[in-house]
Amino acid sequence: MRIAVGADHAGYELKAEILSLLEELGHSYRDFGAHKKDPGDDYPDFGAPVARAVAKGEFDLGILICGTGVGMCILANKVRGIRAALCHDTFSARSSREDDDANILCLGARVMGVELAKEIVKTWLSATFSGADRYQRRVKKVMGLEERPA
Ligand code: RB5
Repeated sequence: MRIAVGADHAGYELKAEILSLLEELGHSYRDFGAHKKDPGDDYPDFGAPVARAVAKGEFDLGILICGTGVGMCILANKVRGIRAALCHDTFSARSSREDDDANILCLGARVMGVELAKEIVKTWLSATFSGADRYQRRVKKVMGLEERPA
């Protein structure tokens, strides 16, 4: 699969681990930065280009990393067409693909260790949307919110 990846300074080291994992797993990826660790950088500057590229169909899926994963997740879900899931366990990661058809995985580098993060990424990438009627109906209702004024 084609995976877009981005992280701020807080996710910089974990991003490197995840990129190595993607290589091991045989996925192609683009690293949207950060390309150096600068504590003054801002997660939206890396998250927004990833979310837009996934929404445009330039990549199959995206992975975003910041300190908690929260900022990246809030940001990504503001981009039309994105269903970003913040996952710190493998059950949520699998469910986010199978049930919610998540297209971006958000991770908090300050919340968990590298090995768990790698397991979560492996689990997330190997799961697919079940396509069951009830999940399709729910995803359609969620995405319908993008078409209506608040
Ligand atoms: C950066 O210090 C931190 O706020 C950011 O990485 C992230 O956790 C935001 O949600």
